[in-house]
Amino acid sequence: MTGITSLTDKDRIFTNVYGFQGADLKSAQARGNWDKTADLMKIGQDEIIEIVKASGLRGRGGAGFPTGMKWSFMPKAPTPGRPNFLVINADESEPGSCKDREILRHDPHTLVEGALLAGFAMRARAGYIYVRGEFIRETEALRKAVAEAYEAGLLGKNACGSGYDFDLFVHRGAGAYICGEETAMLESLEGKPGKPRLKPPFPAGAGLYGCPTTVNNVESIAVVPTILRRGAEWFKSFGRENNAGTKLFQISGHVNNPCVVEEAMSISFRELIDKHCGGIRGGWDNLLAVIPGGSSVPLVPAEQIMDAPMDFDGLKAVGSGLGTAAVIVMDKSTDIVRAISRISYFYKHESCGQCTPCREGTGWMWRTMERLREGDADVATIDKLLDVTKQVEGHTICALGDAAAWPIQGLIKHFRPEIERRISERHAGMQEAAE
Ligand code: NAI
Ligand code: SF4
Repeated sequence: MTGITSLTDKDRIFTNVYGFQGADLKSAQARGNWDKTADLMKIGQDEIIEIVKASGLRGRGGAGFPTGMKWSFMPKAPTPGRPNFLVINADESEPGSCKDREILRHDPHTLVEGALLAGFAMRARAGYIYVRGEFIRETEALRKAVAEAYEAGLLGKNACGSGYDFDLFVHRGAGAYICGEETAMLESLEGKPGKPRLKPPFPAGAGLYGCPTTVNNVESIAVVPTILRRGAEWFKSFGRENNAGTKLFQISGHVNNPCVVEEAMSISFRELIDKHCGGIRGGWDNLLAVIPGGSSVPLVPAEQIMDAPMDFDGLKAVGSGLGTAAVIVMDKSTDIVRAISRISYFYKHESCGQCTPCREGTGWMWRTMERLREGDADVATIDKLLDVTKQVEGHTICALGDAAAWPIQGLIKHFRPEIERRISERHAGMQEAAE
């Protein structure tokens, strides 16, 4: 059953995403943040987890794992000397993604209040917010918000007068994409090189310093206070079953007005673009393809994306994914082979190098993509490349290997004739030159 798929201002959780108002505590309180937070805590720890489960919230960092279920994996009675921890992933680095940045800059108190409530529900002694190294201004805004919250008694000992102690630390990374992978982030927080760990064990079993830990994305945590205030049913009324809530979409590329906007899940691609971006540059007939969820997900050709619901299931049905909802729009002026080759370079560059299929495969795939871009190959190379992507996919420690493989698979699936055209044109040119 489909619910509301188009938002009005009164439905929005992030009311200062463009920074028209202050990010300070007083302005945030005027917008409704920190309103009777202690009363929300009186709902009870397990009850809060049940509300988040009932809301249908799924992780907003890309993977879409049910948030309430993740919290329920945490021990209900932490053993002495082995505290529970909350880690918030603000290492937003997925090409195309730029939503958490806006929360940190302009609405940091939604995150700080959410951290307290989430930490309380999962019985965490402390929370760590790991911020992307390049986010200098964002880190400053966040640190200021945390300091204001301490000063006002909202964090720390007896947070909000609730009797619960919760400390929150801000840690800035050093600019490595791989530290956004949750276990690499834990390694980095511990002061080690950011190399992903094998899973299982998942962080709830053995996370930060070996203690039970939940890692959540910024947006997932920042929506929690509003879900508790307005109720699970309210949040669930947006989108559809399995795809509930509101979501920050980040639309870049060949639209008339690129933007970050909070919309209902399951809005159609066409409505999202017409309502918020003033349409496609040069009109809808000029649309070539879209990467709907950040660079890790396969592209979707124009005719298949137009009416697709922008949610987990709707984009899966067209062979892609919602990911972080970073929507990269490409019109017919795009050199699509070059665009995907550039993404391949990114993954080659960011591979941490600890597993062979990723370390060797990402470099090989990028070099082959560069040859295909020039048509400097034969048709069999396309099949060989596809085969290599399948050897990398699913055979690595973390999802970076899959993320490097999927965009290439999408390109070959939908644009193989374009790659073959380049090869035959180059061969024809060489033949002509030889005659
Ligand atoms: P994942 O599917 O392995 O895990 C998702 C979450 O669910 C993790 O927190 C994991 O610990 C938990 N989980 C999964 N199965 C579990 C189980 N059986 N028991 C307990 N916990 C379980 O995905 P992953 O590798 O965490 O994330 C991949 C996604 O991240 C990609 O789809 C991509 O879209 C996104 N991504 C986002 C970036 C950003 O800048 N926001 C950057 C790079 C990737
Ligand atoms: Fe490192 Fe790549 Fe292996 Fe992930 S898949 S652990 S990034 S080498």
